[in-house]
Amino acid sequence: MILVTGGAGFIGGNFVLDWVAGSDEPVLNLDKLTYAGNLETLASLQQCAGHVFVQGDIGDGALVAQLLADHKPRAVINFAAESHVDRSIHGPADFIQTNIVGTFNLLERVRVYWSELSEPEQTQFRFLHVSTDEVYGSLQPDEAPFAERDPYEPNSPYAASKAASDHLVRAWHHTYGLPVLTTNCSNNYGPFHFPEKLIPLVILNALAGKPLPVYGDGQQVRDWLYVKDHCAALRQVLEAGRVGETYNIGGWNERTNLHVVQAICTQLDELRPRPDGHHYAEQIQFVADRPGHDRRYAIDARKVANELGWRPAQTFESGLRETITWYLANPEWISGVTSGSYRDWVGLHYGQ
Ligand code: NAD
Ligand code: DAU
Repeated sequence: MILVTGGAGFIGGNFVLDWVAGSDEPVLNLDKLTYAGNLETLASLQQCAGHVFVQGDIGDGALVAQLLADHKPRAVINFAAESHVDRSIHGPADFIQTNIVGTFNLLERVRVYWSELSEPEQTQFRFLHVSTDEVYGSLQPDEAPFAERDPYEPNSPYAASKAASDHLVRAWHHTYGLPVLTTNCSNNYGPFHFPEKLIPLVILNALAGKPLPVYGDGQQVRDWLYVKDHCAALRQVLEAGRVGETYNIGGWNERTNLHVVQAICTQLDELRPRPDGHHYAEQIQFVADRPGHDRRYAIDARKVANELGWRPAQTFESGLRETITWYLANPEWISGVTSGSYRDWVGLHYGQ
């Protein structure tokens, strides 16, 4: 079996759902169920024998050691993290704890487990660490997209914590020989995305008649990757990636934030027109910029294409349509994640 951490979150949840749909190999899913973890995402797996869920922390050494001993996974895929840049600015402590200390603990427990496997099992074993393009810092408009050998220049507490975790993973390979793989991907979007992030926030605010907050001048650029394309890339890297290597994964879809928000508004005008006949774009509001806001991210995804044959299947426009259609069809999932602590976050960050 495989052990997935953070499999009740956005990308981990999509990965688990796709894995179970496409493979007979069972998944052990370890997730702390922070505000970002949601068992509703996994509701369709309730009767599925191939999915075992355990609520717990990657920083809990005894628990991780016990799970490894009991289930004997042939691979660990580490999605567990604090993932929201704005939250890392309000309060970085959880990011240091989970992304750095938690990853350290997981690596240590996995190293001990791996060192006691038979030689063929050791050779087969993989530790796949899921990281981000934000570790590379920010690009000027005319600079080439991030490549695997670019220097690390993280700018936010979140990015710095992910950079630190990547360094630990690299060191556990070089020092101890743990067979690791690292992926650094661009901005994901798609079903089950927690609505603190730009795309789901704008979809839900638009439908609720609320302002659509665009930070600063809205000219920051992100490289958007449909989450199921990302999951397909991760499966490729897991099966065929070269041990010790890093793979950058991106959608070849650079868009300004303002363009993204306007594209959502245009699609919503068509799919769910406002009852008053006005356009959703009238709800756009420019608000104070994010401190230290990175101007541009873009991924050079040629290595994963050339070595492993992976390319994204969705364009930004087709993936966005899938995403909006999913949110329109899943009001129960939305109401489950927009109560309580979510409202507290919105109040804290955007004000009333
Ligand atoms: P998410 O915030 O939606 O989910 C994170 C999951 O991890 C949640 O289910 C949460 O409960 C769990 N978790 C948090 N702390 C934990 C801990 N200490 N122990 C066990 N579980 C814990 O995040 P996501 O967007 O799905 O991102 C997954 C991974 O991909 C992260 O490592 C993130 O840095 C990386 N990533 C995300 C994106 C993106 O666009 N979302 C892009 C690049 C990289
Ligand atoms: O690049 C990969 C990263 O993408 C991941 O590592 C992170 O986990 C993930 O959260 C995401 O980070 P971003 O900060 O790029 O995503 P977010 O959705 O928060 O913001 C996208 C852009 O939109 C960013 O430039 C900030 C802007 N933004 C965001 C919000 C929430 C707004 O203009 N208004 C908003 O209300």
